[in-house]
Formats: sequence, C-alpha cells, structure tokens
Amino acid sequence: MRISYLQVVVWLLCWPWLAWSGLPETAQGVGENGEHWQPDPMHEYWDPATYHRPERERMLGVFKEEECTECHRGVTPGIVKDWRASRHAQAVPPVGCPACHGEDHQKLTFPTPQSCGNCHPQRLAQMEEEKKFGFPSHALAMERAVDSKHFADKPKAEVAACLQCHSVASKCDSCHTRHRFDPAEARRPEACLTCHSGPPHPDDLAYFSSPHGQLYQKEGATWDWSKPLRKGNYPTPTCAYCHMKEGNHQVADKAVWKFGIREVNPKTAENEIKRKRWREICADCHPEETARGFFRELDAERQSTWKQLYGVEKILKSLRSDSLLSPAAAERPPYPMDWLARLLPRERIGFYEGQASAFYNVSAIERDYFDMWYFTNLGAYKGMAHGAKEMTQHFHKQLDDNARAIATTAEELRNREKTSKKIDLKPLWLEGEYTRFNRDHN
Ligand code: HEC
Ligand code: HEC
Ligand code: HEC
Ligand code: HEC
Ligand code: HEC
Ligand code: HEC
Ligand code: HEC
Ligand code: HEC
Repeated sequence: MRISYLQVVVWLLCWPWLAWSGLPETAQGVGENGEHWQPDPMHEYWDPATYHRPERERMLGVFKEEECTECHRGVTPGIVKDWRASRHAQAVPPVGCPACHGEDHQKLTFPTPQSCGNCHPQRLAQMEEEKKFGFPSHALAMERAVDSKHFADKPKAEVAACLQCHSVASKCDSCHTRHRFDPAEARRPEACLTCHSGPPHPDDLAYFSSPHGQLYQKEGATWDWSKPLRKGNYPTPTCAYCHMKEGNHQVADKAVWKFGIREVNPKTAENEIKRKRWREICADCHPEETARGFFRELDAERQSTWKQLYGVEKILKSLRSDSLLSPAAAERPPYPMDWLARLLPRERIGFYEGQASAFYNVSAIERDYFDMWYFTNLGAYKGMAHGAKEMTQHFHKQLDDNARAIATTAEELRNREKTSKKIDLKPLWLEGEYTRFNRDHN
C-alpha cells in the first residue's frame, strides 16, 4: 500500500482526538479485589496483556516494515531514530515495527514479556523462575500491587503511581527502555532507580552512599558500558551486577531479608544456600572472609533492630489492652476491603496482625509506629545491606528517637487517662455528617 503525504497530514491532525478512543469506561479491574476498582486509560500501556484494546478507529491499513518507519519518521521521529540505532534494526532480517506491534494498524499489539520471550526465551524463562521464590519479585509485581488491600481501598489519585513501577512484571522495557533496548543502559544503576527509590525502598540513597556507589559516581562516566556484567569488566558493582549475576534475569534467588518488613531466620538451610550465592558474587573482588563478616554484621543489625521494634510493639499492645488507643478501631471508618475489621474491629499491631494495611485511618501513636517500622526500619536495613555506613547510622538514630517519642506519648496517654477520666476527649471528627457518610459509603 502506498502512502500519500496528504494521508499523513490528515492523520496527524486527527490523532490527538483518536488517541483517546482506547480503554472503555466500563473496563474492570483484575485480581482479588478486581470488582472494586477500574483501570485508568494508561493501564493499557502498563499492563498490555490485560488491558490493551487493539480494535480502534484510527489509522487504516496493513503496512510493511519500511512503510511503518517511513510514516513514523514524521509522526514519531524519536522512536524511529532509537529503533534505527538498536540491534533490532541491525539484525538480519531486521526486527521491525511489525514484529512487536503487528502489521494491521487497527489491530496494533503492545509487546508483553511473553511476546518478547518468543525471540528471547531464555530471558523470559529466567524472569518467570522468580515465581518459585515467592514475593517480592519482578515476575509477580503486578498481582502483588493490585491485590494489596490498600490499592483498592485508597482514593484513586493516591494509587495512580503503583502500576507505573509494578509494571516491571507486565512489560520488558523497564530497564532497557524502548526503542533502543540497550543492555548498556540496563547495566547502570539509574536503570533501576526509576522504581527503586523513595522512603519504603531507598535503594538509591543506599547505593550512592556505599563505597561501591561512591566509586561509581567518581569514575562511572569513563567505564565501557558495552561490556557484559562479568568478573573483571567493572571495578565496582552496580545494582544489576549484584542482583542479576551474569545477566541472569532473576532477582529473587538470593534475597534473605527481602523487603525487610518482618523478621526472618537467616540460618535456615534455604537461606544458607542463598548466602552462599551472595558470597560467590562478592568473591569476584573480595576475599571470602570480607563477605562472611559483612553478612554476619547485617544479620546482627537486623536482629537487634527487631528487638527494638518488638519492644515498641509491646508498648502499643499494652495500650490496646487498656483501651487507650483513641480513636479505637470500632470508632474509625473501616477499610472497605477489610471484612474482618468490620466484623471484629481491632487495632492491628505489627506485621503478623496485618498492619500492612495501616497506612492511614489509625490513631496517632499507631501511625508513629507504622512510620518507625516501615520507613525508618527499611532505611536502616537498606543502608546496612549495601554497606552505607552513614545512612545506617542516620536511620538508627532516628529509630532511637522514634522509640523514645512513642514511649513518651504512651506515658502521656496513661496520665491523661488518670487525670481526666471524666472529660470526653473524643476528637470532633468521630461524629458528624461527613464521618457518618464515610462509615456507610467509604
Ligand atoms: C501513514 C502513516 C502511518 C503508517 C504507515 C503507520 N503508522 Fe503507526 N501511527 C500513525 C499515527 C498518525 C499514529 C498516532 C495516531 C493513532 O494513535 O492512531 C500512529 C500510532 C502508532 C502506534 C501507537 C498506538 C498507541 O496506542 O499508542 C503504534 C504502536 C504504531 N503506530 C505502529 C505502527 C506500525 C507497526 C506500523 C506498520 C505496520 C505503522 N504504525 C504504520 C501513522 C502511521
Ligand atoms: C522490540 C519490540 C519493538 C519494536 C521492534 C518496536 N516497538 Fe514500538 N513499542 C515497544 C514497546 C515495548 C512499547 C511500549 C508499550 C507499552 O507501554 O506497553 C512500544 C510503544 C510504541 C509506541 C507508543 C508510544 C510510546 O509511548 O512510545 C509507538 C508509537 C511505537 N511503539 C512505534 C513503533 C514504531 C514506529 C516502530 C518501528 C520503527 C516500533 N515501535 C518498533 C516495542 C517495540
Ligand atoms: C522477532 C524476534 C524478536 C522480538 C519479538 C524481540 N526481539 Fe529483541 N532481539 C532480536 C534479535 C534478532 C536481536 C539481535 C541479537 C543479536 O544481535 O545477537 C535482539 C536483541 C535484543 C537486545 C540486545 C540489544 C543489544 O544492543 O545488544 C535486547 C535488550 C532485546 N532484544 C530486547 C527485546 C525486548 C525487550 C523485546 C520485547 C519488547 C524484544 N527484544 C523483542 C529479536 C527479537
Ligand atoms: C519498572 C520498575 C522497576 C525497575 C526499573 C526495576 N525494578 Fe526491581 N522491583 C520492582 C518492584 C515493583 C518490585 C517489588 C515487586 C513485588 O511487589 O513483589 C521489585 C523488586 C526487586 C527486588 C526484590 C527481589 C526479592 O526477592 O526480594 C530486587 C532485588 C530488584 N527488584 C532489583 C532490581 C534491579 C537490580 C533493577 C535494575 C537492574 C530493578 N530491580 C529495576 C520494580 C522495578
Ligand atoms: C516508585 C516505584 C513504586 C511505586 C510508585 C509503588 N511501588 Fe510497591 N514496590 C516498589 C519496589 C521497588 C518494591 C520492592 C522493594 C524491596 O524489595 O526492597 C515494592 C514493594 C511492594 C510491596 C511488597 C512486596 C512484598 O511482597 O513484600 C507491595 C505490596 C507493594 N509494593 C504495593 C504497592 C502499591 C499498592 C503501590 C501503590 C500505592 C505501590 N506499591 C507503589 C516500587 C514501587
Ligand atoms: C530489572 C531490569 C531488567 C528487566 C526487567 C529486563 N531486563 Fe533484559 N537486561 C537487563 C540487564 C542488566 C542486561 C545486561 C546483562 C549483562 O550485562 O549481561 C539485559 C540484557 C538483555 C538482553 C541482551 C543481552 C543478552 O545477553 O541476552 C536481552 C535480549 C534482554 N535483556 C531481554 C529482556 C527481556 C525479554 C525482558 C522481559 C522478559 C527483559 N530483558 C527485562 C535488565 C533487565
Ligand atoms: C555489592 C552488591 C550490591 C549492590 C551493588 C546492590 N545491592 Fe541491593 N542488596 C545487596 C545485598 C547483599 C542485599 C541484602 C540481601 C539479603 O536479603 O540478605 C540487598 C538487598 C536489596 C533489596 C532487597 C531484596 C533483596 O534482594 O534482598 C533490593 C530491592 C535491592 N537490594 C536493590 C538494589 C538496587 C536497586 C541497587 C542499585 C541502586 C542495589 N540493590 C545495589 C547487594 C547489593
Ligand atoms: C566488581 C567488584 C566488586 C564486587 C563484586 C563487590 N565489591 Fe565490595 N568493593 C569493591 C571496591 C573496588 C571497593 C573499594 C571502594 C573504595 O575504595 O572506595 C569495595 C568496598 C567494599 C566495602 C568497604 C570496605 C572496604 O574494604 O573498603 C565493603 C564492606 C564491601 N565492598 C563489601 C562487598 C560485599 C558484601 C560484596 C558482595 C555482596 C561486594 N563488596 C562486592 C569492589 C567490589
């Protein structure tokens, strides 16, 4: 089919309008709470296997590879330029636009890990293998996010970003971005940091303030990033060097403390095997004893931090037994997804009682503990796991401050109970039109 320039101009004028003819408003969520949320238009891109809708009224025609590039040189010049610079364009025969998007412009496809895996089966299989190690993992990231109670509970605007990061499971262009698909880009720490940053996972801070990251910052600009991540090619490791050994697309087979939100026993037979895998990586550059010492210190830091956290949990549990947590669980609007909390309202303290859902809608002292356990503790863990001494110290000072502040507040709550028993201290918002409405309609 020949393309006239008039055709191009007409479609260029039309496309901003047509571009929104995608996901219908009636589209449903997926997963355990799927009936309680609706996807946004962008979900078509974050999770194409589930949400991409090929049938659209836009550009009409079935095209050959050269026709796609020819027209898109005008429509999306950056894409064509990146593709031309990629190995896909240079392969014989070239892996052109139709290989990933199809030839029929009304039935365009967006690549999924499975469709990339048709040509890169080993990489796909490695990522899929993560599933056997459970959460967290890249392969399971999408279901982990959408199945979280707070994903369906929270206002839409507050969960808009979740899938941007958790789409690491549903498309392969997270670390080597489209349309260059460059392994050199994926080898650099920045490739991970679009997602591995922010308070619950400050991996950026941890790495950049570690001896490895410091050296990277000083010298990384001069390294030859076209070399694969193998022993001898890089003086200091990047994220992928350590977590994706020799390019293995599998980030879960060594994780002992995982996300860091609960205590684990690092000495189980399975964890001993994981540690051995870790030490083999350090052995590229350090003597065995350096790595052994490092992990001994990590485990000791974790165990002493957990002692401290359990101590604070004890304070909260004793406030709960004395009914001093105010507002109490029964007085708060319940989490819509949490049928158990509706039936048997109870303040959840600590990981095992399900405090993971306590991001909001709790009394002040419970929130203080949530901040301590989630943000401060995870900062200390990530600092320690990456050899970032100052960061670890900083978060430990903060853990001590948090523990002291919570103990002081607990003391105040007890004193208030003694001195002002008769005064009703219920916060104003516990009753009223808005609260009543929320209790029924949240
Ligand atoms: C005559 C011009 C022309 C040709 C030929 C053409 N396209 Fe397009 N394409 C467009 C325009 C204009 C848009 C943006 C408007 C739209 O969304 O329909 C677009 C959009 C796209 C999109 C984005 C769709 C989305 O939902 O974001 C993809 C992918 C795409 N084209 C792939 C291809 C492939 C593959 C071929 C060859 C089989 C091709 N195009 C041939 C003009 C063209
Ligand atoms: C190796 C596979 C691959 C090839 C080859 C490829 N694309 Fe893509 N393309 C992708 C991926 C992956 C996305 C992102 C889809 C998503 O967000 O879910 C994408 C997205 C797009 C989009 C959507 C707009 C955006 O935000 O980037 C357009 C337009 C597009 N491609 C055009 C092209 C054109 C034109 C060619 C040929 C020059 C081409 N693609 C070749 C994989 C490919
Ligand atoms: C039709 C088959 C095909 C599909 C589909 C395909 N690729 Fe490729 N890919 C290739 C070929 C061929 C090469 C070049 C291999 C070589 O030169 O050794 C390649 C190379 C690559 C490279 C290495 C580039 C480099 O500079 O060394 C990456 C990364 C890559 N592909 C990622 C992807 C991703 C991600 C997808 C899905 C969005 C995808 N590919 C889809 C065939 C394909
Ligand atoms: C597009 C976002 C994104 C990018 C880019 C990304 N990740 Fe992740 N990663 C995630 C998410 C989301 C999770 C948690 C998944 C879950 O909820 O189970 C995760 C989890 C992990 C884990 C935890 C595995 C475990 O078993 O504890 C490691 C390690 C990891 N990623 C390493 C990396 C490295 C190294 C890179 C860069 C080469 C990288 N990630 C790039 C989003 C990303
Ligand atoms: C900036 C990127 C980013 C955003 C935004 C994001 N996450 Fe994550 N999430 C991650 C990363 C990275 C991890 C893994 C951290 C680790 O293992 O250290 C993770 C871990 C998780 C985990 C724990 C996985 C496990 O099994 O232990 C859950 C659950 C989760 N995210 C849900 C969500 C929800 C729900 C949202 C939206 C409210 C969200 N995430 C927003 C990047 C992100
Ligand atoms: C967490 C980041 C990350 C994700 C997600 C990711 N890759 Fe990669 N990819 C890398 C890194 C890092 C390299 C370079 C490895 C090396 O140096 O040996 C690479 C290299 C590649 C290569 C070329 C080198 C080779 O030896 O094969 C291909 C092909 C590839 N990836 C395909 C995929 C496919 C297919 C997916 C989705 C199933 C995917 N990648 C998802 C980080 C990632
Ligand atoms: C020197 C090797 C090394 C480098 C470089 C490194 N990490 Fe780690 N990382 C570790 C170790 C060791 C742990 C703790 C493992 C455990 O659970 O025992 C860890 C833990 C993690 C975790 C928690 C899940 C897990 O696998 O235990 C994530 C997520 C993570 N790192 C991401 C990153 C990111 C992102 C970067 C780059 C910014 C990075 N790491 C750089 C060694 C490294
Ligand atoms: C690719 C080589 C490489 C790998 C792999 C590597 N390191 Fe390092 N590491 C270095 C270099 C180089 C330095 C010194 C940085 C400097 O001089 O500032 C260093 C410094 C350190 C330090 C600071 C103390 C010291 O000796 O100066 C610790 C601790 C450390 N590494 C632990 C680890 C652990 C644990 C692993 C494995 C999880 C690991 N390293 C993997 C290259 C590596």
